[in-house]
Amino acid sequence: MSTTHEAGWAHAPGALRGPAWLSPPADPNALVPSLWSRTAHKRDGDLVVGGVAVADLVAEHNTPAYVLDEDDFRARARAFRDGFAGYDVYYAAKAFLCTAVAGWVAEEGLHLDVCSDGELTVALRAGVDPARLGYHGNNKTHPELRRAVAEGVGRIVVDSLVEIERLAQITAELDVVQPVMVRVTAGVEAHTHEYIATAHEDQKFGLSITSGDAMDAVRRVLAAPGLRLQGLHSHIGSQIFDASGFEVAARRVLALHARIADELGVTLPEMDLGGGFGIAYTTQDDPSEPADLAAEMTRIVDHECRALGIERPHLSIEPGRAIVGPSTCTVYTVGTVKPVALDGGAVRTYVSVDGGMSDNVRTALYDADYSCTLAGRASDAPPVLARVVGKHCEAGDVVVRDEFLPGDVRPGDLLAVPATGAYCRSMASNYNHALRPPVVAVRDGRARVIVRRETVDDLLATDVGAAG
Ligand code: LLP
Repeated sequence: MSTTHEAGWAHAPGALRGPAWLSPPADPNALVPSLWSRTAHKRDGDLVVGGVAVADLVAEHNTPAYVLDEDDFRARARAFRDGFAGYDVYYAAKAFLCTAVAGWVAEEGLHLDVCSDGELTVALRAGVDPARLGYHGNNKTHPELRRAVAEGVGRIVVDSLVEIERLAQITAELDVVQPVMVRVTAGVEAHTHEYIATAHEDQKFGLSITSGDAMDAVRRVLAAPGLRLQGLHSHIGSQIFDASGFEVAARRVLALHARIADELGVTLPEMDLGGGFGIAYTTQDDPSEPADLAAEMTRIVDHECRALGIERPHLSIEPGRAIVGPSTCTVYTVGTVKPVALDGGAVRTYVSVDGGMSDNVRTALYDADYSCTLAGRASDAPPVLARVVGKHCEAGDVVVRDEFLPGDVRPGDLLAVPATGAYCRSMASNYNHALRPPVVAVRDGRARVIVRRETVDDLLATDVGAAG
C-alpha cells in the first residue's frame, strides 16, 4: 500500500492497526459522547460546543485555542458538590485556574485549593473568600506562607517539619491562629503513571506514617500555640480509577487518626482524602459518577471507623481534573499531512497541527492517550490511522498518538482534541517561543475569551534586550 486511503484498508496486508483498544469509528462524523463536554455535538460535520460552531469561533479567535464549555464545568462542579454532600469539595486549581473559573467555583459553592502565590493571587482577585481556600505545596516559601496566613487562608496543608517551624514563627509574629492539616504518605502504590503517584514512600510529598514522621509532625503542630490542627490529609495520586488505592490509604490514615486520639487525647475534626479521580481521555477509560465515588468512599471510611471504634471525621476531597478536564477541548488547524512508510510496508499518516507539546505536554510527559475529531467539515473518506503531532522541534512532540481520521484529512482542516481542560493550559510553555493559546468560554451560543492569546509583546516583555 502506498497510502492508506483505500476503502477496507484496515484489513489490508501490512496496514497499520494501532493499539488493540482502538477501532475505526462507526460514524466518523459523530462524537463519542463520553469523551466530550455535555453540550458538544456535530452539526453537518461542524463541531458545536456551548451552542457555538467551533469553525465560527476559530474565524474570530484563530487556532490553537482551548474551548471551555462553561455549563459543563459548572455541572461537574455541582455534581461533586451534591454527590459529596456533607463533604467539603475543594477544586484543585492546579488543574486549571483563571479569574473567571475561580469565580464559577465559588458561585457553585465549592472551596478552592491553591498551591502557589500565583494561584492565591488569582483566587483573591476573583473575590473568593480566603476562609474557603486551602493551600498546598511541598516547598512553600516563607513569604508565601506569610501572605497565606495574613490573608486568612482557611487551611494550610503542611508537608514538612521545616514548614511547621516556619508557620509557628509567622503565626507568632502576626499573633494569629492558623488552621492546618498534616499531609501524610500512606505508603500506597497507586495504579497510575509514576510521575503522578504520590502516596508511596520514595517521593517528595507528605510525611510518612511508617517512619513516624507523620506522628512527629502532629506532635509539633499541637505544640505550636499559633497552629490549630484540623486533621490529616492524604492524596494518593492522579487519574485513578481503582478504589483499592483509596481504601488502603483511608485505612492507614484513619488508623493514625485513631492513634492520635488514643495517645495524645486529641480527636481531630477533619480528614481530607485528596483528589485524583480519573476521567475519560479515550474509549479505554471508564470513570465513575461523583455520587458513586462518594458512596464508595463513604462506605470505605465508615467501615474503617466502625472497625476502629471512632467517629467519622468531617471529610473533604480535592478534585481538579474530574471537574475541568472534560469541559474543554483544544482546536487546532492542520498544517501538513505526511504519509510515512514503515518497515513492513505499512504507512502512518502524520498530521501536523499548529500547536503541540507547548499547549499539551501530557502525551510526551506521561504517555497519555488522547483522541481527536475533524471539527469543521464532514467526510465520508475511509479512515486512516493517524498520529497527530505538533510543530515543535522534537520527535516526541505528539498530541494524539493514535486516532482514525478520515483519509482525506488535509491542510486547513480543523481538528479538536477533547478532555484537555486539566493540566494542559496550566502546564503550557513557550517552548520554541510559542504563544500560549487563549481559553475561550462558550455558553448559550456565546463565546467569551477568559484567557487571551499571548502576543509577541508578551514574549518580549521579559527579554531585556541586548543593551540590558
Ligand atoms: N490534591 C492534591 C494534593 C494534589 O497534589 C492534586 C494533584 C490534586 C488534589 C488534584 O488531582 P486531580 O483531581 O486533578 O487528579 N500534571 C499531572 C497531574 C498532577 C497532579 C498534581 N496534583 C497530569 O497532567 O496528569
